[in-house]
Amino acid sequence: MQHSILILLILQVALSLLNTSTTHAAPLLELNITITRGGQKKSDKVYHWEVDSFPSSLSQLEVPLQLETPLKRGRDQFDIVRDPVLIKSQSQCLSKATLPRVLRSLYPANSYARSKDRHPSFTSTPLPKEAFSGPASRYIRLEYQMLFKPGFNWVKGGKLPGALIGSEKGCNAGCSGGGSAENCFSTRMMWREGGQGELYLYAAKSVYFPEQKPETCRGSLNKRSSEALALLEKRRIDAVRIPEDDEYESYEGGPNGALMKRAMSDSCLQGMRVNISEGARNMCNPNYGISIGRGGGFQFKAGQWHNVTQIVRVNSKGKAVRDGYLAVYLDNNPVIVAQDLVLLKNGYDPKKDPAGQQVKFMFSSFFGGATKDYATPNNQWIAWKGFKMTTSSSNIWE
Ligand SMILES: *[C@@H]1O[C@H](CO)[C@@H](O)[C@H](O)[C@H]1NC(C)=O
Ligand SMILES: *[C@@H]1O[C@H](CO)[C@@H](O)[C@H](O)[C@H]1NC(C)=O
Ligand SMILES: *[C@@H]1O[C@H](CO)[C@@H](O)[C@H](O)[C@H]1NC(C)=O
Repeated sequence: MQHSILILLILQVALSLLNTSTTHAAPLLELNITITRGGQKKSDKVYHWEVDSFPSSLSQLEVPLQLETPLKRGRDQFDIVRDPVLIKSQSQCLSKATLPRVLRSLYPANSYARSKDRHPSFTSTPLPKEAFSGPASRYIRLEYQMLFKPGFNWVKGGKLPGALIGSEKGCNAGCSGGGSAENCFSTRMMWREGGQGELYLYAAKSVYFPEQKPETCRGSLNKRSSEALALLEKRRIDAVRIPEDDEYESYEGGPNGALMKRAMSDSCLQGMRVNISEGARNMCNPNYGISIGRGGGFQFKAGQWHNVTQIVRVNSKGKAVRDGYLAVYLDNNPVIVAQDLVLLKNGYDPKKDPAGQQVKFMFSSFFGGATKDYATPNNQWIAWKGFKMTTSSSNIWE
């Protein structure tokens, strides 16, 4: 009940601000909300970022979405259209022009993680420091609505948005593409074959895979520099290379059989309470992301809007304190509830590294997978709306 009241309040304030704003997107709203719980009043400051209303032109989105690469005419990774589901359900006499617009990410035929195509991606403006400061880490609620094109060909899988927390700068820094997640973590999602869902977590690999050596750092490398990427590339084609996904079986008998076996298991999550939907599994790949809750009851369907919600809290300050929290909801039903997690190696300590505690919405979507068998055979799209990110000192959304 409190939940829906809160959402209503957030929406009301957000809508009133949107109406008076000409920018179509409220970059950041600070709301003071009083929540009633079991008769007791508790004040909680809630910080809110939202992009839920799309302009007719993509260029107007560059500022609120902070696109990583400038848009080029004719080669856009995104477009903006009227809501495809509403268009279908409207009778022909109604004007399409009155329907809300949505964002679409576009996947050209033959594209996958390593193809030459620019992938649809942006990161939001980080929430302000106050939204994520204080003696304890705050809860983050991240939300979006997504619609896979009717008849979507899932192929082998692809990446979906999530939160990015911390800094990707420095050696062993990246929180995607094989990075070691030393000073950051990311909670992107993935779809897999047949629309299976999963959380594709990048977090403190030195904690989850203590036996794996991080890449050698020469001086202070920035993961995004070409030198660092070359190093990363080298690591990928190492003798003990572990394939990104589910081809482990074919490696099992080989010289790295033991390593492969571990990558197929959920051994890295031992001691952490991870609840996933029935029939789903977890997989600990030391080179890429940790798959949590793959398959089972966690399934996306093409041709309908889905709500994806994540609630995240960083583990407490200290050496690998196991009290991080991460929950994923699909259409308001929990599909993953993970507790006692380590997300940042040294936990939440805004005093030590304020820049390293940034909270951003991370949109980075493509087919793959680093191998060609992930590529989409035809042009496809996913539609999006309702990007939201909110922080609060307690888990008011549970
Ligand atoms: C929220 O409350 C604080 C003090 O409690 C106040 O300074 C601030 O202006 C309030 N913000 C809004 C948006 O009402
Ligand atoms: C996780 O699963 C266990 C065992 O089924 C159950 O007792 C517990 O309540 C679950 N926790 C959550 C947070 O769903
Ligand atoms: C998804 O979220 C929107 C906005 O909060 C809500 O109106 C809609 O009912 C939700 N849909 C599902 C399937 O949960």
